[in-house]
Amino acid sequence: MVKNKIDAEDKIDELPGVGPSTAEKLMDAGYTDIMSIAVASPKELSEAADLGDSSAAKIIQNARKQADIGGFETGSALLEKRAKVGRLTSGSEIFNELLGGGFETQSIIELFGEFGSAKTQIAHQLCVTVQLPKEQGGLDGHAFFIDTENTFRPERIVQMAEAYGLDPDEVLKKIHVARAYNSNHQMLLVEKVKEISKETPTSLLVVDSLTAHFRAEYIGRGALADRQQKLNRHMHDLLRWSDLNNGVVCVTNQVSSKPDAFFGDPTRPIGGHIVGHTATFRIYLRKSKGPKRIARLIDSPHLPEGEAVFTVSEKGIRD
Ligand SMILES: Nc1ncnc2c1ncn2[C@@H]1O[C@H](COP(=O)(O)OP(=O)(O)OP(=O)(O)O)[C@@H](O)[C@H]1O
Ligand SMILES: [Mg+2]
Repeated sequence: MVKNKIDAEDKIDELPGVGPSTAEKLMDAGYTDIMSIAVASPKELSEAADLGDSSAAKIIQNARKQADIGGFETGSALLEKRAKVGRLTSGSEIFNELLGGGFETQSIIELFGEFGSAKTQIAHQLCVTVQLPKEQGGLDGHAFFIDTENTFRPERIVQMAEAYGLDPDEVLKKIHVARAYNSNHQMLLVEKVKEISKETPTSLLVVDSLTAHFRAEYIGRGALADRQQKLNRHMHDLLRWSDLNNGVVCVTNQVSSKPDAFFGDPTRPIGGHIVGHTATFRIYLRKSKGPKRIARLIDSPHLPEGEAVFTVSEKGIRD
């Protein structure tokens, strides 16, 4: 529990009407910042923190006063924002083409697939390519890696950096890795990333795996609604970061290799429609012969569906 208490809690504590024990309950339910309270319903909040409806409503009112809810933007302002969208190379030209030129900033890219389908490998690769200058397909920025399964390997970064002729020590210095011990901690780490991004030019945020903790902690049908609600908040938090920092968010999601009764369609990953609707791009990865992997683009807002074959080599992701 102590580990979870990063600065975000202070913010919730500052809300009039929220005492320490309410703050703790809210945090446990995934309300990690004032915005998440501002957009909650009184019923949701009263259930999450054992509050009466009227106290919940008051807390929400106070949160709305403090939160910057934002408003409408004109089409031209949005076009101007779209013009700033950057594209991050995956290391493979064919893969980039599938995505209209690379991993887009101001968006969440979900990589889903069975074990060994290269989700973590791609995540490592992006941590290296994001540091390249824009002319080389990079975004000239730092990377954050929220690691839930202890799969980040600096040795692998060294290999990939050398393949680009980069100094591995310099590359490693610009990758900030944190282990997430549970889903609350995972969500709090995003708050931490928001803080650090204010001082450090950051263009990539990886969450590998997005869903593993959620899946392990929320078991059974009864827990599904809670899990989805919390995952929804997490996704929106990530999306907000990508917007504010003109960065790429890359999340991974494991699916069962067996297209069986548990999941039905194998292209339907864990987290279901919540993750699917919030992710801007969804890429389904499958294993092929040897080092070959197949990426399939699913549900993109403005690109056709399609497939790309790439390989995972010692150098990293390549055609
Ligand atoms: N140094 C390397 N050189 C070549 N190929 C490698 C290297 N390291 C890993 N690989 C390949 O990457 C594969 C592992 O992929 P990865 O760890 O990205 O899978 P994943 O989709 O993240 O799986 P999981 O769901 O278990 O997390 C290995 O099976 C291997 O083929
Ligand atoms: Mg992995």
